[in-house]
Amino acid sequence: MTGWTWEYEGYEPTDARLRESLCTLGNGYFATRGALPECVADDIHYPGTYVAGCYNRLTSDVSGRQVENEDLVNVPNWLPLRFRMHGRSWLTPDTAPVLEHREILHLSSGLLERLTRYGLGDDRSLTVRQLRLVHMADPHLAALRTEFTVEGGSGELHVEAALDGGVTNAGVPRYRDLDGRHLTHVHTGTATPDTTWLRCRTRTSDIRIGMASRLTTESPVTIRHAVPRTVQLTRLGLAPGRTATVDKTVALYTSRDPAISDPLHAAVDRVGRAPGFDALLAAHRTAWAQLWRRASIDVPGEAGRILRLHLFHVLQTLSPNTADLDVGVPARGLHGEAYRGHVFWDELFVLPYLNLHFPEVSRALLHYRHRRLEKACTAAKDAGRRGAMYPWQSGSDGREETQQLHLNPRSGRWLPDHTHLQYHVGSAIAYNVWQYSEASGDTEFLHTKGAEMLLQIARFWADAATWDDHLGRHRIRGVLGPDEYHDAYPDATTPGLDDNAYTNVTAAWVLSRTLELLAALPEPRRRELTERTGLEDGELDQWDEVSRTLHVPCHEGVISQFEGYGDLAELDWSGYRKNYGDIRRLDRILEAEGDTVNRYQASKQADVLMLGYLFSPGELRSLFHRLGLRLDDDTWHRTVDYYLHRTSHGSTLSGLVHGWILARARRAEAWQFCQEALRGDIADIQGGTTGEGIHLGAMAGTLDLVQRGLTGLETRQGALWLDPVPLPELSSYGFSLRYQGNWGVRLRLRRRHLEITVPSSDADPIDVRLPDRSVRLQPGEMARLMLPD
Ligand code: BGC
Repeated sequence: MTGWTWEYEGYEPTDARLRESLCTLGNGYFATRGALPECVADDIHYPGTYVAGCYNRLTSDVSGRQVENEDLVNVPNWLPLRFRMHGRSWLTPDTAPVLEHREILHLSSGLLERLTRYGLGDDRSLTVRQLRLVHMADPHLAALRTEFTVEGGSGELHVEAALDGGVTNAGVPRYRDLDGRHLTHVHTGTATPDTTWLRCRTRTSDIRIGMASRLTTESPVTIRHAVPRTVQLTRLGLAPGRTATVDKTVALYTSRDPAISDPLHAAVDRVGRAPGFDALLAAHRTAWAQLWRRASIDVPGEAGRILRLHLFHVLQTLSPNTADLDVGVPARGLHGEAYRGHVFWDELFVLPYLNLHFPEVSRALLHYRHRRLEKACTAAKDAGRRGAMYPWQSGSDGREETQQLHLNPRSGRWLPDHTHLQYHVGSAIAYNVWQYSEASGDTEFLHTKGAEMLLQIARFWADAATWDDHLGRHRIRGVLGPDEYHDAYPDATTPGLDDNAYTNVTAAWVLSRTLELLAALPEPRRRELTERTGLEDGELDQWDEVSRTLHVPCHEGVISQFEGYGDLAELDWSGYRKNYGDIRRLDRILEAEGDTVNRYQASKQADVLMLGYLFSPGELRSLFHRLGLRLDDDTWHRTVDYYLHRTSHGSTLSGLVHGWILARARRAEAWQFCQEALRGDIADIQGGTTGEGIHLGAMAGTLDLVQRGLTGLETRQGALWLDPVPLPELSSYGFSLRYQGNWGVRLRLRRRHLEITVPSSDADPIDVRLPDRSVRLQPGEMARLMLPD
């Protein structure tokens, strides 16, 4: 292993799915899991290719109920390439002796290399070396080079490459009762003697998909069609010591793509014009080198190596290629089928990172939300509310995609899913609009689409809040907070909880920010917005009042996660740990026991503590102050301790948030949680979930942990605020960022020394605010600063 490669030695069937997820190659337009090309989908392997935003909706019969689900579609498999010696069986690592096996993911060049030496049962062996890429510069292309070398005797090798339209969505065992057959009308054909094609469409969303494959080798190629597969065959005469090469080049388009006539024609045309493998690789390498320059992060040791892997997967899911697409942030990347490729609040952990490197990508992801604003307003209206109620899970058109039933694999029971009550997703969108605008300086967006979203989200919160005479405060009732274990009060007949502190405080933030923005808008624009949204005079006063009077419950001197949390029973944490070992999914354990997590003070993930993740201590204090409440350091520290002992970390986001806030609080346990966040996917900490897709929020979040968490970096009031905290295990690091038109700004921290370099340009100077001083850096300047002890 080097800092730029991830290597897997030996063939391990039990690890195959995890490796496939972690060796996925993608370019922000589509991604393909790192499955071996000679293997088909079975209990061990799961090849899958996903195009960003390509969804399809199907209805299935579950437990006697008709349930509808929308899935990110596993599109036809372009990867298949199998081989056998003449007269023998096809070779796979599950059926033939594997003498040597290695998979190497090259991060710098976005290349997956595999090397396998198969024993042929006589004195001969066949070495297969493959190089695979999903092109970063031309997002419609992928290529697979295969080199065959025989040792110990010669022979004839049969090679069969295919495009397979017979695939289904079957990557998540929990979903197997659901219909996964998303493709229909599969047709295949020949374009030129060495190029075959496949086209099909999705069953209900009617997205047409076109794929073409060109096979280049020293021997003649024949094509055989058999729907749903089209196959290219060749025979290679192998002699010891001579390597024969087969290059498969593939193009992929869908009817969602701009600037094409039809996807099949586009695919055939593109693959016909594609250069050979070496030239493709050279352009691909250049594109990756550019990405690494724009997002360079330099952290020593193992942490640095993992962060680079995380950055690699973030960029493969959301790259500059994504900037032209109508897609959101898929929680599990384009790496697998968990959560059906849906878009949750996870962008809250992703955009703050992207804002400072690829603002054009953040902007596109916010456009995805803006295009679905009307849908969110309709959802609010249908629920008897004003404003915009964004869905907890979003897919193609922005309707609520949260499943109605979910399976507890421990009990085998299908249970009602109430997580759609996490209306706090709206505040996450508003927060991202604000953060993006501050980091990029894009007031054009903030004043137009951004303001429209903020206004409707604020309006929703103001309308959702009801006045309680007894408390003398506004309340938001019947919701879920980020801790989705608690979905109802014990013994309640309806789901939902009252006064989730995270929801209320973030709602107050949205309301006050929106008021601030409306006041700052140029008058003509404010008028347009008022006319367009029918904003009434009294509304702003009401928003102001709600933003100052939302209820934040407390008990035992700590902030309550929701009203009544402190009345719930205490869980016997050590007893459960002793009985079950891993208790991250406490909800499933308790349900299988015939109990419910709703009865206990036990949270899945950071909920109240999310406030310390989103807001600096000063900002949080002033938010509380606006609410007429006092948040002192002691209350906050007590609150941190309280939930630290009552959280099972059943989400990868939890370790990240805890690591972040403990590091900011200079607490010794910080590193343990940071490590949990760093190791979440590489060690598959959530027990087998990474094989179903990476956890994109946690991956991007760890990058942001260095970028904003450790540095205390904030972009507000037109300045770059820095307030670094020491984390002994990570005491020196550097990264570059793009801030308000200044490209390649470099920050380097070594213990108490901070170095900032602003490259020459005609951009505006940068105002840097440290706790004890301010400096203004002109483009072309560098500052070396000593931080206070
Ligand atoms: C977490 C949510 C998250 C979702 C998708 C769930 O396990 O509880 O906070 O949005 O996964 O990543």
